[in-house]
Amino acid sequence: ATATATAERSNKRCTGGFVDEMRSVAMKLHSKDQSKEGEKETQGKPWPKWEPTIDGYLKFLVDSKLVYDTLDKILDKADFPEYAEFRNTGLERAGKLAKDLKWFEEQGHVIPEPVAPGLDYSVYVEELSKKDPHAFICHFYNTYFAHTAGGRMIGKKVAAKILNGKELEFYKWDGDLSQLLQNVREKLNMVAENWTRDEKNHCLQETEKSFKFNGDILHLILV
Ligand code: HEM
Repeated sequence: ATATATAERSNKRCTGGFVDEMRSVAMKLHSKDQSKEGEKETQGKPWPKWEPTIDGYLKFLVDSKLVYDTLDKILDKADFPEYAEFRNTGLERAGKLAKDLKWFEEQGHVIPEPVAPGLDYSVYVEELSKKDPHAFICHFYNTYFAHTAGGRMIGKKVAAKILNGKELEFYKWDGDLSQLLQNVREKLNMVAENWTRDEKNHCLQETEKSFKFNGDILHLILV
């Protein structure tokens, strides 16, 4: 397991393409309690001390599903041809989340309607995707990749605290996750090869917005 983890990490650290820049900007926006690579001060409770509730977690899952549905819809529609590269990557989460929500329903929980952070983010990325492909790709990268990194750690911790350790489908991928991620990194590098430096910078500048929206959705876990 350690060897795999190390290989996975060294893959992440260096692809020799634009994804390295996307990752580096994203890592700096983490707080120091979130990642050793983070440069921001912790605001509020450090995440390992979060006290999740089922109600809050359900809100988080519902809003996450809305956002993943929206991203997939945008990729399917492909207003810009490069979006089509990112269809059927194996990273898709909406179907898995639908299964998880069904499970919660069977357990007697009421599934809430989506709320502001997820609704706002969906509207935002949908509008953005029609006119600004460089910025949109930033949201695609951050939302999908964040979930495979910090999102997974958070999921484990929440499951241990409130779900008797049950592992949700949201945290399972069909196939080898590190390979799926690597395939998408290569596609991102390939697409960005045609971008000017200004277009790349514009994409990187969008990272902060993605962090803000995804951070607000994560915080639903505590509401
Ligand atoms: C990677 C933690 C929130 C985007 C990581 C890593 C950690 C982490 C530890 C490094 C994983 C590794 O390389 O082994 C967390 C925690 C968060 C959080 C604890 C919140 C409590 C976010 C948010 C975003 C984000 C809100 C933005 C949407 C990313 C990205 C990566 C990453 C893009 C790179 C993944 C990769 O290289 O494959 N996060 N994160 N994270 N995180 Fe976060």
